[in-house]
Amino acid sequence: MNFNQHVDRREYPSLKWSKAFLAEHFGNEEAIPMSVADMDLKAPPAVIKQLQKRVAHGVYGYEYTPDSYFDALVGWYQNRYGWQIEREHIEPSPSILSAISILIDQHSNEGEGVILQPPVFFEFRMIIRSNHRRIVKNPLKLIDGHYQIDFEDLERKASDPNNKILILCSPHNPVGRVWTKTELEQVEQICKRHDVFVIADEIHGDFVFSPEKFVPYLSIAGGENRAACISPAKTFNIAGMVDAITIIPSEIHRRKFHEFSHRYQINKVNVFASVATEAAYKDGGEWLDALLAYIQGNIDVIKKHLQQNDTGISLIEPDGTFLAWLDFRKLGLDPKALDRFLAQEAKIALAPGYWFGREGAGFGRMTIGCPRETIKRAFDNLATAAKQPGR
Ligand SMILES: Cc1ncc(COP(=O)(O)O)c(C=O)c1O
Repeated sequence: MNFNQHVDRREYPSLKWSKAFLAEHFGNEEAIPMSVADMDLKAPPAVIKQLQKRVAHGVYGYEYTPDSYFDALVGWYQNRYGWQIEREHIEPSPSILSAISILIDQHSNEGEGVILQPPVFFEFRMIIRSNHRRIVKNPLKLIDGHYQIDFEDLERKASDPNNKILILCSPHNPVGRVWTKTELEQVEQICKRHDVFVIADEIHGDFVFSPEKFVPYLSIAGGENRAACISPAKTFNIAGMVDAITIIPSEIHRRKFHEFSHRYQINKVNVFASVATEAAYKDGGEWLDALLAYIQGNIDVIKKHLQQNDTGISLIEPDGTFLAWLDFRKLGLDPKALDRFLAQEAKIALAPGYWFGREGAGFGRMTIGCPRETIKRAFDNLATAAKQPGR
């Protein structure tokens, strides 16, 4: 486990590192790529080893998903979070977003509302729109540098009978909140009271810094109208390969989901995804603990750098994730000028805050699952750019 190792991602067509992508979105193909939420770090050795073994076998024909895959998945959640997943509640999906799209389709009608908590992962908006549903905002509140759910507003939005679904991002991308058990219980009480279906997107669930704890949404007491989308994709940096897993406890809802997946034949687990997922969940625990410590080290570097350099930039300290939500509002730049400052002057490609909704304007999301050297270079660039005459 050498997270300091530089891996040349341009050997393969990485989206984040693509010069065309950098030129299109940032107008600077030389900017340090830190926008897409995947890591510039190698997957756990156990995963690489099992994949190499599988490749060496040479035959990649039809397979069934073995019991050992399900045992590894169930064991991971049981051991790390005390959540007992029932094997029959598991539905494979090609991706988290495809699962969310199916759930939106099955639990609301065209024109009805889907509640989001912006600033939030931008693809949710795309998927709501492509399902011809309405986006209903329950914006997070930023109080003393800490994002919180506006429960009064959530109650109001949930009580409107036209609003049928809440997409809960847990932990939250981009602001890095890890929702507490009490917060999740409040969400569940409100949604249950008003028959709102909760889709808990828990793709970032394994990225939680002690003493915070990841509480799987389905592990709290509640109603039938909910599902969780989980995946080893982010945790083990295997997003280009693996599928997602949807957990649906209600038999009626699960049957509906299963029939849809079966009808369109989107319930298959790729042989490599199966091998990687099993190896990661079986043997990736120690690697993940080391990774979490490394990411916290990256956060410490950021904090120290911001303390030592009076740039006016601040960090919303994350409880988890491998994302840093940076506050640039003190620079007093409008969104276009901030884009220019970051990509042209500081030469870093961050996901601009407004991608996550207008509530994110003035912020930027930096992916910090990368060698520490990259973080240092990015913040040196930021400090130099912020000190330019006339600023
Ligand atoms: C919160 C969240 N959900 C879903 C995804 C995408 O998952 P998938 O590629 O499986 O659709 C991401 C990726 O950045 C994410 O951050």
